[in-house]
Amino acid sequence: MNNYKALNYIYQSSGVEGAYTLLLLHGTGGDETDLLPIAAKFGEGVNVLSLRGNVSEAGMPRFFKRLAMGVFDEADVAFRTHEMVAFIKELAAKEKFDPAKLIALGYSNGANIAGSTMLLYPDFLAGAILLRPMQPFKKLPQPVKTSRRIPVFMSNGVEDPTVRAADSKAYQQLLEDAGFAVNAFNLEAGHNLTLRDIEYAIQWFEQNFETAAIK
Ligand code: MLT
Repeated sequence: MNNYKALNYIYQSSGVEGAYTLLLLHGTGGDETDLLPIAAKFGEGVNVLSLRGNVSEAGMPRFFKRLAMGVFDEADVAFRTHEMVAFIKELAAKEKFDPAKLIALGYSNGANIAGSTMLLYPDFLAGAILLRPMQPFKKLPQPVKTSRRIPVFMSNGVEDPTVRAADSKAYQQLLEDAGFAVNAFNLEAGHNLTLRDIEYAIQWFEQNFETAAIK
């Protein structure tokens, strides 16, 4: 018995054969509806799977517990990552999307569970868009190495009070050392997203993934 719980979700099929699926992962206090308007900007040919985190912090949904601002309960990070991946694998069969064509799009806490998914399951995602991410594990639970050069987009806010620039740089390095192909952007912004984040993420998506189906 693993005690995994199902996650609330919204799934929108594009109806396009072989489509990629954007896996939307909200920030603290958000839910599965938050990032839908952003996903819509990626075109109609992409499926959308949006999840709600199973953890509640004073009523605010999150994807894993934290002990303080920026200090994560790393055992819970790992548990919730396993729970989410198991859930997505089951859901793929039910909703009929290709689990090998998932591209995470996560903001803040959602970016952090996307990151822990890459570190615990390096070959699970086909790509990831990490908006205002932080390194999810101070100490990696296992050595990480992928030879697939999975594309990763990362956007940091240079005035973000929650993430130090040096930590973002170290996180980028860790992902690159693990074999991910990281494109990192440091934007004139704080922790909140800007139009630039979305513009650059869409450009990155179009450069890295087959877009014939989404035009
Ligand atoms: C976290 O995962 O705790 C964040 O990166 C910060 C937040 O979600 O507020």
